[in-house]
Amino acid sequence: MLASRMIGKALGKGVFEISREVKEAEMKFGKENVINSTIGTFYGENENLSVLNAVENYYKNLPANELFGYASDISGSNEYKEAVKENVFDIYKDTFDKAFIGVTATPGGTGAIHNTLKAYMDCGETVLLPEFMWEAYKHLASANGLKFETYSLFDGDSFNLLDFSKKVLEMAKTQKKVLVVINDPCQNPTGYSLSLEEWKKVIEILKEATQYGKVILLNDIAYIDYDFRGSVNSRKYMTLFNGLPEDILVIMAFSMSKSFTSYGLRVGAQVAISSNKKIIEEFDVASTFLCRTSWSNTTRGGMKLLADIYSNEKLLKKVEDEREEKIVLLEKRAEIFLEESKKFGLITCPFRSGFFITIPLKENAKEIIDDLKAKKVFVLPIAGGIRVALCSVPCEKIKKLPEIIVQSIKKFNK
Ligand SMILES: Cc1ncc(COP(=O)(O)O)c(C=O)c1O
Repeated sequence: MLASRMIGKALGKGVFEISREVKEAEMKFGKENVINSTIGTFYGENENLSVLNAVENYYKNLPANELFGYASDISGSNEYKEAVKENVFDIYKDTFDKAFIGVTATPGGTGAIHNTLKAYMDCGETVLLPEFMWEAYKHLASANGLKFETYSLFDGDSFNLLDFSKKVLEMAKTQKKVLVVINDPCQNPTGYSLSLEEWKKVIEILKEATQYGKVILLNDIAYIDYDFRGSVNSRKYMTLFNGLPEDILVIMAFSMSKSFTSYGLRVGAQVAISSNKKIIEEFDVASTFLCRTSWSNTTRGGMKLLADIYSNEKLLKKVEDEREEKIVLLEKRAEIFLEESKKFGLITCPFRSGFFITIPLKENAKEIIDDLKAKKVFVLPIAGGIRVALCSVPCEKIKKLPEIIVQSIKKFNK
């Protein structure tokens, strides 16, 4: 029955199967005896979903028409778009004097990524993705009839500029167009963040690529508000997007999911930056068309929530203060995990901040993961390694993880 373009397209049972196994283990052995490091949302030390109270209370008290009515505009209300800019650019908002900016509301960052792939790539073309990545990128590419190649992420403890340059330039020469995804800061799944110096070099490479074709940089910033460097430092690199050559279009994928613990609300945005006004006008028309023909508009209550947070200093401060408590906890969990890793010789990918840490595994990943399961430890298998979720495992359990993981690795990888 399926259309031929859908044949073979499936998400795979991976995550659902693991959740089922975790539940079974928790029932059998008790939650306290199981380490579940597969959840990608923020859990408190009591192992329950932890939301920002100020966000929860404000949202619950919105009037019915704001929660249940249609949003007025397909691409999002003006107040929402302004609030998105406030969040994304912070103090740098007024520094974009050589750029035009367009914002389109989407259902989460996922919607922003989907819209971008659909609007800027033709079926059969190839996108460039990071070697360690949020697996959904592959599915989003596939859903849009696209292939993907990857760039290597690390050179020792730094970003692999050499491979990035090689892959970008090769693609620009052969395809005459490059759409490259950089999930930064706080990359999922490694927790890496490029330094400002690394970003400067990335921009130089993208400029060089424009000699051969058009460049679209899709910067996924889903975890930006958990950057340990703080809001201002984490956003400094964005000033490099001001006054870029016209053949470089930057689209940032903004998401309320993590920043406002609003995962289920499904609110995000595409934030497009170009030095050419026409390119932004074209972006506005195309992205609005794609919204209308994919999901219509984004949830009104979610947009209202963000708009109101950014027009109410007190509320914003409350939200930021509460989020800071979560960041402090994340830092603590990261510190414990890295310290224990060092003690037991567990090698991790370079980590800077955020929700996750990755342990690279070249071989026997399945055997190692199965061995961990036998010890009632559940981690997320990813291409090239395993992901540890700092966001959802309490300190006491995080402390135990490195030694247990090392033992399983040593059993199979001598
Ligand atoms: C790297 C990355 N980007 C984007 C998203 C999108 O999230 P949402 O669609 O909920 O905004 C996620 C969610 O897990 C993610 O991990």
